[in-house]
Formats: sequence, C-alpha cells, structure tokens
Amino acid sequence: MRLYVTGGTGLVGSNVIRLARQRGYEIIASQYGPAPEWAVDYQLDPLDLRDHAAIRRSILHYQPDAVIHAAAILDQIVMDTQRELCWRIMVGGTRALAEACREVGARLVFVSSDWVFDGREALVHEGSPPNPVNFYGLMKVASERDLGALDGLNYGVARLAGIYGFNYAAPSLLRKENGLGFDFSVYVMHRLAAGLPAEVWTGPKVNDMAHPTLASDCADMLLRLARHDGNGIFHCFGSESINRIELAHQIAAAFDTDPALIMPTRTDQAVLDAMRHIGIPYRTRASCQRTAEALGRRAFTVAEGLAAFRQEWDAFHGARDAK
Ligand SMILES: NC(=O)c1ccc[n+]([C@@H]2O[C@H](COP(=O)([O-])OP(=O)(O)OC[C@H]3O[C@@H](n4cnc5c(N)ncnc54)[C@H](OP(=O)(O)O)[C@@H]3O)[C@@H](O)[C@H]2O)c1
Repeated sequence: MRLYVTGGTGLVGSNVIRLARQRGYEIIASQYGPAPEWAVDYQLDPLDLRDHAAIRRSILHYQPDAVIHAAAILDQIVMDTQRELCWRIMVGGTRALAEACREVGARLVFVSSDWVFDGREALVHEGSPPNPVNFYGLMKVASERDLGALDGLNYGVARLAGIYGFNYAAPSLLRKENGLGFDFSVYVMHRLAAGLPAEVWTGPKVNDMAHPTLASDCADMLLRLARHDGNGIFHCFGSESINRIELAHQIAAAFDTDPALIMPTRTDQAVLDAMRHIGIPYRTRASCQRTAEALGRRAFTVAEGLAAFRQEWDAFHGARDAK
C-alpha cells in the first residue's frame, strides 16, 4: 500500500509511520516544520496545510492508495485567538485533502477527536450528536460534516482521545511538563520515575475523565481503518474511560514507582486564567463497540496500554544506552 501521512512529525503521525514501515507500506509524509531527528527511510514532502493548491498538487503527484490526515493545530490558545488562520489550516486543509483524495480515488482517514463532545453525557457512541464546547471541537465537527457531504469520497473519521506515548520523530520532545497541552501520562511517569511528586490537577479546565490511548495502539487502529471499506465515524479510543487520579495510580503500578508521590492539586491558576474563555470537556465516556466490530479488535485497556508503553520505553532507552 502507498500511504500518505500528514502530521508525520507528531505523536500520532510518527507512530503511524513507524508501524506502517514495519508492515512494509510505502510512505510519503508531508513535512511542515523541522524534519525528524534522524534519517528516515520514507519520502518527505514539504507541505503547509494553509496552501490548498499545494495539497492538491502533492496528492495528485503521489497518487496514494490511502491518506491518514493527522496534522492539526493542538494549542487551544492559538486556536481561540487566531480563528481564521486555524480554520484555514484545519477545516480548509481537510476539505482540500478530501477533494484531492476523491480525485485520485484514495481513501481518506481523517483524524478527529473525542472533543467533538461536551463531556457531560453519560455515554456517547459513534452516532451520538456532537456538542463541542470549544473552537477545536467545532473545527473537527465541521470537517467531519464536510467529509460526509462529499459525494463519492471513500473516508473514515477516526476520533482519537487522550493520546500518550513516544513521538518517534522527536523523542526529545516528549511532552512531559505539567502545563497546557502536555501529555499527562508521560508527565506522571517522568516525575514518579525520578522520585518526584506528580501533581494531578483536579479542578476545572481539565479533561478529568477520558479514554487514554497508547499512540502505537491508535496507529494500529488507523492503519486498519485505512484498509477498511466503510464510510463514517469510528471511535479509535482506548477501551476504558478513567479519571486522572486513577490513571496516575495505574501508571505508578505499571512503572513500579511510588504511588505516594501522586499529589491531587488544584488546577494551576495561570492555566485557569489562560483558559477562562475556553471550554474543556470534563468527563468523557464513550462506547467503541461499533468500531471494535468494524476493525476486528478492541483497543487496549488502560493496564494493557501502560504495559505496552513500558515495553516501548524500556526498548527505546535500552537501544539508546547500548549506543
Ligand atoms: N494528542 C491527543 O491527545 C489527541 C486527542 C484527540 C485527537 N487528536 C488528534 O490527533 C491528531 C494528531 O495529534 P498529535 O497529538 O499527533 O499532534 P502533534 O504531535 O502536535 O502533531 C501535529 C502535527 O501537525 C503538523 N502541523 C501543524 N501545523 C501544520 C500546518 N500548517 N501544515 C502542515 N502540518 C502542520 C505538525 O508539524 P510540525 O511538527 O512540523 O509542527 C505535526 O506534525 C490531530 O488531528 C489531533 O487533533 C490528538
């Protein structure tokens, strides 16, 4: 399969590329900012999603069988304050990609988010009506609807949630600080492994309950979706919903660290101030049953995901230490 990946330097995209290469796929990855930290064995193609004509040119040039569109802006403040620019990148870029995919007959897997929901319903499934509480969620919903309205497009919307793991394009950029846009699981794991307290914000403006998903597990679901022939929406989430305190305790257990270092703390005031106009879904619980049936497997439970992450972590550091 010839697979075109956007956002290949990101957490999700780098895992997709890694797994797809292991499976022998031919990869073309769009490149926006700096190239990956080491030499790659696939084709890089410079592309800025603001440039819709360039998107079409690139897809027509490479004629992929499938496209996994994982590039996005994730900074909530940028999205809230630069809406026109972000709309052009996220909604306009996705639309341009979809039209180009339809032109060459490629399947499009668009990466969306559980944040299309407000985090207030007891249980949402693939067909539940979305109700985004911030501009990011609104843009994802707009793209989902755009794809559904494009006659003749072969597509799957892959909603993701709470991704953690290695960014294989830039492992030095592990998002391990507590703050906006950080990777909660990696932060907790780093702190506990260093014998330091790990603060777990419990106040408002946090996504308290979610479906943590290991990036490599998510990559497998995205690749299955790229080969699937059904159109529509899929919940590629870890199979359990869990709150942050419980998750921190499972991380401590998976990494053999001291759970007494887990410190429930009020959300940082600077974050509360920066986010005061931005809604965050508080508790998300979703059914992934239809997706599991369609893709032929269920995603990892929390414990399975953390055990696999520990193996990746040990393998990565073992390989690095051996150099
Ligand atoms: N992380 C999560 O917990 C989570 C949860 C739900 C859904 N998602 C969705 O999953 C997808 C991937 O997220 P991620 O965590 O992998 O994000 P990420 O690590 O921040 O990666 C984002 C990617 O988008 C690229 N990009 C940004 N602006 C671009 C532009 N103007 N043109 C082309 N590429 C651009 C970035 O390139 P550079 O590296 O060069 O800047 C990077 O490769 C996104 O659609 C996100 O909405 C993520």
